[in-house]
Amino acid sequence: DLAAKCADMIKKAQKICLLSGAGISTNAGIPDFRGPKGLYRTAGIDNPERIFDISYFHRDPSLFYKFHKEFLKALQQIKPTFAHYFFAKLEEKGKLIGIITQNIDSLHQRAGAKKVYEIHGGVWESYCLKCGKKFNYEESFKKTMEEEIPHCDSCGGVIKPDIVFFGEPVKYLDKCIELARESDLFFVVGSSLVVTPAALIPAECKGSIVIVNKGDFSTAYLPMDKVDLVADEDIDAFFK
Ligand code: OAD
Ligand code: ZN
Repeated sequence: DLAAKCADMIKKAQKICLLSGAGISTNAGIPDFRGPKGLYRTAGIDNPERIFDISYFHRDPSLFYKFHKEFLKALQQIKPTFAHYFFAKLEEKGKLIGIITQNIDSLHQRAGAKKVYEIHGGVWESYCLKCGKKFNYEESFKKTMEEEIPHCDSCGGVIKPDIVFFGEPVKYLDKCIELARESDLFFVVGSSLVVTPAALIPAECKGSIVIVNKGDFSTAYLPMDKVDLVADEDIDAFFK
């Protein structure tokens, strides 16, 4: 079966790389974006992608913060999933060269992985859009919980977490492409592969490519003839 075939591929591989998306954290209790219970379906607004659009944020940061408050609260409750531990263990065994994640929940790091590249940034640092002042997690968390829109205590500017919004450049892209080119086995786990440039990375792998994703994903940037195995299954069930 597919899981056995995948286990065999892992056994033979020496340089595994992972691209993870929101689907790897749904079992932890964080909804994804485009899945059946995804944020873009449940948000109840038109063009829900504007929640994370930088020009929209400049006009009205309150929409983002409405959702971000709930996300930060959820972050305090959740734990890494089996799959997060599975890939952390592959790194520990020296088989995994890097984890490229589109997620900002830091569950890979909390599972013990070290070579994690948060291509869409993270919540650990925030900064003032006006004067550039930086705020650590505790400071920005407190302000986010206390105010509708957190503001800088020096200049009154709006604070933005160091998350990559649509319209902003992603982080570590060169390193991510290098990892994919170097890998002999590349996993895409829980991503719809619709958001570029992240979705362009897997095709850079010259070895085998495995997709673990229940439901639809785009093949626009990763042609199916490049993919060696597709598991249309629940992520944790598959890796267990
Ligand atoms: P998506 O929500 O687009 O895709 C998640 C995929 O995982 C969907 O195809 C789901 O069906 C699948 N999935 C969910 N739970 C699963 C499970 N337990 N087992 C198997 N499959 C499961 O999330 P991403 O591809 O990560 O960016 O989205 C990419 C980017 O779009 C995000 O980083 C975010 C978003 O807008 C920004 O905000 C810049
Ligand atoms: Zn400021």
